[in-house]
Amino acid sequence: MERAVVQITLFGLLLALGTTLPNKDDWDIYSFHINSTVNSRYATTVITSRVANRMDVSKEIEFHVRIPKNAFISKFKMLIDGQEYDGVVKAKEQAKQQYAQAVSRGQSAGLVSSVGRTLEEFKTSVTVAAHKKVTFELTYEELLKRRLGKYELQIHAQPMQPVKDFKVDVYINENAGINFIEVKGGLSTNAMANAITKTHVDKQAWVYFYPTEDQQKTCDSCGDQGMNGDLVIVYDVNRDTSLGDIKRSAGYFVHHFAPSNLPRIPKNVVFIIDQSGSMHGRKITQTRIALIHILNDLAEDDHFGLITFDSDIFHWKRELVQANKENLNSAKTFARGITDRGATDINRAVLEGARMLNAHPREGSASILILLTDGDPTTGETNLERIHSNVRRVIADKFPLYCLGFGFDVNFEFLEKMSLQNNGVARRIYEDSDADLQLTGFYEEVATPLLTDVTMIYIGANNLTQTNFSLYYNGSEIVVAGQITDNEIETFTPQVIAVSTSKRVVFSETNTTVDSTGTMSDSHIQRVWAYLTVKQLLEKELQLSGPEKENVKNEALRLSLKYSFVTPLTSMVVTKPQGENTDVLHKPKEGERQTSGLPFGQPIGRLTPWTSLSGKGFSPASGSIPGPPVTRGQGFYTASGLLPGPPVAGGGLSTQVDYADYDLMMPDYGGMGTGYAIVPTYKPTIAATDGGMGTQDLIVATYEPTIAATDAPLYHRFLLKTVNQSLPLCFDVSGDVGLKLLHHPNREMSVNGELDSVAHGGFKRIVIHVKPDQHIEVDTAGITVRDGQRVTSHTGQDLLTIGSVTVIRRNKEIDVAAEDSRMVILVQEKDGEEFLWPVLRQRPSDTSVTGILALKPAVYEEVQQTPITKLKINNQDISVTRSTAVDHSIVSSPTLDCWLLSAESALHRPLNDFIVSQI
Ligand SMILES: *[C@@H]1O[C@H](CO)[C@@H](O)[C@H](O)[C@H]1NC(C)=O
Ligand SMILES: *[C@@H]1O[C@H](CO)[C@@H](O)[C@H](O)[C@H]1NC(C)=O
Ligand SMILES: *[C@@H]1O[C@H](CO)[C@@H](O)[C@H](O)[C@H]1NC(C)=O
Ligand SMILES: *[C@@H]1O[C@H](CO)[C@@H](O)[C@H](O)[C@H]1NC(C)=O
Ligand SMILES: *[C@@H]1O[C@H](CO)[C@@H](O)[C@H](O)[C@H]1NC(C)=O
Ligand SMILES: *[C@@H]1O[C@H](CO)[C@@H](O)[C@H](O)[C@H]1NC(C)=O
Repeated sequence: MERAVVQITLFGLLLALGTTLPNKDDWDIYSFHINSTVNSRYATTVITSRVANRMDVSKEIEFHVRIPKNAFISKFKMLIDGQEYDGVVKAKEQAKQQYAQAVSRGQSAGLVSSVGRTLEEFKTSVTVAAHKKVTFELTYEELLKRRLGKYELQIHAQPMQPVKDFKVDVYINENAGINFIEVKGGLSTNAMANAITKTHVDKQAWVYFYPTEDQQKTCDSCGDQGMNGDLVIVYDVNRDTSLGDIKRSAGYFVHHFAPSNLPRIPKNVVFIIDQSGSMHGRKITQTRIALIHILNDLAEDDHFGLITFDSDIFHWKRELVQANKENLNSAKTFARGITDRGATDINRAVLEGARMLNAHPREGSASILILLTDGDPTTGETNLERIHSNVRRVIADKFPLYCLGFGFDVNFEFLEKMSLQNNGVARRIYEDSDADLQLTGFYEEVATPLLTDVTMIYIGANNLTQTNFSLYYNGSEIVVAGQITDNEIETFTPQVIAVSTSKRVVFSETNTTVDSTGTMSDSHIQRVWAYLTVKQLLEKELQLSGPEKENVKNEALRLSLKYSFVTPLTSMVVTKPQGENTDVLHKPKEGERQTSGLPFGQPIGRLTPWTSLSGKGFSPASGSIPGPPVTRGQGFYTASGLLPGPPVAGGGLSTQVDYADYDLMMPDYGGMGTGYAIVPTYKPTIAATDGGMGTQDLIVATYEPTIAATDAPLYHRFLLKTVNQSLPLCFDVSGDVGLKLLHHPNREMSVNGELDSVAHGGFKRIVIHVKPDQHIEVDTAGITVRDGQRVTSHTGQDLLTIGSVTVIRRNKEIDVAAEDSRMVILVQEKDGEEFLWPVLRQRPSDTSVTGILALKPAVYEEVQQTPITKLKINNQDISVTRSTAVDHSIVSSPTLDCWLLSAESALHRPLNDFIVSQI
């Protein structure tokens, strides 16, 4: 083994030396899209990368992305020269054979390998002929887990080049209603913050991330190779004491159970802390810090015990004691004195911890055993099987055991099996500066038990996922899925029985409102069921042995194949064009060390040079061939991004890119500017009804096309979003005028739009003035560019560069980028008629920019509610009425509630300031 490590390391080093950074002239990622759709916590993400070989010779092009560990890859395909190559999920054994054949032919394999705490890496490559293109498309799926009161959708973006057409679109649909949504992660900070737009309407939310090419090089973790970082969408849904969120279709159901308004249950917790010699140094220091923090967090009615162990056991106290001040102070003194020494007798320590809990009365409380260790059992009982059976026997399903494995020297599988066998989970604690935070973070997840002995009952359903849970903690969630027997949805009755403090509680549909009108399709719910079933079967397989293990494994394999999930039991075989390598991709197990191109991820030690390589981008698997000189000429964009002013004709940094057959796929998706948007609609008729309580409800008539057809005066309704999540403002502008959309005083660029005067609404025409003699005119049919005397029309999908402005035309979306701003013009449709829709996806940093699109989000305060609502805006009290507006800045055009007021009040100045006579 030692030798293998040395060899691999050297090999890695050689490769590192041989790797030159990808030359921008060689290949070009001209489009990189990440599209994530979350439906009832189930996220499906598609990454699409389009790459062109700009060389006169064929070139190996690599696709290399990182995805969450918790996810299963479900689809992969490549498109080369009109030909599609699909990855096929096969049983690992079968794939291994195929792989062995590939190896014997001297071919290499692609891999999925684990990187860091939350991500794993997917890598494959293909040879692309001179001046040809390849499209890679990867799909992965995951059920978001609720932790500490929130779900997190992590999106890693590292396209390895600045990309002109880069975008992340996230859509979340939660029937229970989205309580809050935030965007975090390295890519959401500083320079990138204004490239993020977020819209949240009750049950739906949209997040768009459209950084310009410039920004992709200047953000915190970015460089010449573009972005490298995460976007983390954090959210939660509304909850109450009820049965929760149940989605059902004819065939399947999924139940999310997470009541929050319950009293906490006092807990009995015993901490078993490894103080063996291997904990020496930072690990023991961090453990002490975490332990003191955790002790501080115990509630007065909790009881606790503390054991340290090496080859011996050290009690702070022999029995559990109450978490009062005196005891806590004494325990903290004990914790400060923990020092490393000796060997590791895990067996004795866990048995003693269990004894203490068993000796303590359990009535009306929740018992928890927590083991922290950084190594294998080295003394006392060291037979892993026997330790497992001993621990199982003493715990006997009475309380959960959580195992925290500190660092990479632990036998994680041993800990995981021990936790799972005892209703707990194992968590890895990474040796890092924040290890104490990881420890306290884990503790917080189990700090507040709300229910014990939770039994989920579903009459009229079968093939259920796990239904019994020893504990339910505040901030977490129980998810159960199953099949509805004989598709008889009427007889399906869900019920939850549990113990809260000392009382038995029943949650059923009789005293809760169950929302079963979800928009999830049957096949979607079925996938959630399959995902959860496979995950749980894999956990169960770990706990079993003999024929039982085989049965469970076979079932997990069957479902993985049926639903095309790349799990530890399956592999994805990527067949490539004739004469090329067949890649076999497999999912690594948690705790597996970095792997190289060796078969099936056998641990081979730490491969630092190799690993760092993976972050560097395209490794020239087929050698780096210097490209021919690239023609410099018309249609420039610079390597450092779009420059203001005249185009850098013939500049040293420029590269000509041929986009003539730009083959973007149609995106069917839209969005709005940071915190605000403009939304023209028709003037609705407003009817007032008396609620009978002296208050007035204003009911807005529906937006039927007949409103305009009956010669009602034509108005367009605009929405002005607010900074926080209060109601947006809305105002009307009469149709048939030209509006100033975006004016850059420091540059000559300005954007104007002409409102439509006919029934279907929106903008008819939008004109972008780049320089006095350069104009880009957009209408629903296409784009017309006037450059001096030259007039060109573009109706297909295209990428155009006009002066400092880049226009990417996709099917129903025209993306306009200029140095520090990105605007999207959506082609929307109503009653079969198309209209345009401008949305600012990235606010210019220049604060002197004016125009309707540059309006700052509204800030107001509600100062009066009856008899008529008044808002304080800009120190003025303004009467408003509650109304609605259709938000066309999102493709699906949701209807938003809003406060209706006059344009002058909303804009703080006369409307005339925004009107232009000539667009
Ligand atoms: C549970 O968490 C919610 C919010 O996450 C909080 O409002 C509530 O007080 C917590 N319940 C208890 C018993 O701590
Ligand atoms: C569901 O369970 C039944 C038996 O209870 C079994 O016959 C059937 O194959 C199962 N369906 C799936 C999809 O596992
Ligand atoms: C779940 O718990 C109930 C009652 O506590 C018990 O009857 C049932 O056998 C348990 N089911 C499983 C699968 O353990
Ligand atoms: C719901 O109603 C049942 C009786 O139908 C009752 O036993 C139970 O305690 C109620 N549950 C809650 C959470 O109120
Ligand atoms: C994103 O994915 C969803 C679901 O597959 C699809 O409806 C939508 O059109 C996609 N959006 C884009 C921009 O490709
Ligand atoms: C929104 O923010 C403004 C100013 O920050 C504040 O006055 C107002 O109360 C907030 N409204 C809500 C609903 O949070």
